[in-house]
Amino acid sequence: MKRVESITALRDAVSGWRRAGERIAFAPTMGNLHAGHLSLVERARALADRIVVSIFVNPLQFDCADDLARYPRTLERDEAKLRAAAADLLFLPNEQQMYPFGREGQTRVRVPELTDILCGASRPGHFDGVATVVCKLFNLVQPDVALFGEKDYQQLAIIRRMVTDLNLPVEIVGVPTVREANGLAMSSRNGYLSDKERARAAVIHGALRQCGEALHAGDRDYSVLVGRITRRIVDAGLKPDYIEIRHPDLRPARPDDDRWVILIAAWLGKARLIDNMQVGD
Ligand code: PAJ
Repeated sequence: MKRVESITALRDAVSGWRRAGERIAFAPTMGNLHAGHLSLVERARALADRIVVSIFVNPLQFDCADDLARYPRTLERDEAKLRAAAADLLFLPNEQQMYPFGREGQTRVRVPELTDILCGASRPGHFDGVATVVCKLFNLVQPDVALFGEKDYQQLAIIRRMVTDLNLPVEIVGVPTVREANGLAMSSRNGYLSDKERARAAVIHGALRQCGEALHAGDRDYSVLVGRITRRIVDAGLKPDYIEIRHPDLRPARPDDDRWVILIAAWLGKARLIDNMQVGD
């Protein structure tokens, strides 16, 4: 696996592959890699000849300096995992490379409508930072296909919309959420949880499943369903940020819908956990 830190070296490597007619897959990350990230690499293997992974803890998408400072950085272990997963190139830009005119001077990409709801409502500016960095990374790597986890459902929807709206020549592939044995969605932020908290956090997936079954069974009283999930989450000692049932395109659910996504964000100790479940065909 090549490890490159500069934009010039990245462009050299990728343009060589492209000239040779090879198909390039790309998975952007912020590091502290776990089995969820590695499932993106695994899926990429089936879709392309070359796999590029980036690790960049993107300051533009953190709404709080503290959160940015304590975000886990485990580069050596990450690199070993990517080698074992047979990625071809690890791109490690620094902030100066990505934002040469500073954070304030950076041109932004903003995807309207999808950005200020759900996670965007409690994290102002977050998705502008995500869309901006992903757009830049697409321009740098110029992948044929890029992979994103369904765990970050809203992020995936925003990336898809950005690609359509800006006519970016890249195919976006969503990858199913990888979970711990107890159902907890894997996340770099799970490291902030104690063993006891990890066990309690499984309530999120349990509540999603229960709500999914109720929708399958024909229950359409969304506010009662949300109330039921809220009680279950609160009883387990978590503090809900939002709990919503929406159409898969993220508009509010209507009574005659037959497909939904249930989305939850909740605090447990120092960790803000998110998860979702798609229901219906
Ligand atoms: P990060 O949280 O490191 O996640 C990188 C990718 O891994 C995202 O596409 C995310 O959805 C996916 N992922 C995380 N946990 C997963 C799980 N349990 N199962 C499957 N996929 C999972 O998301 C970001 O970084 C950043 O916002 C980024 C897109 C890199 C832009 O900075």
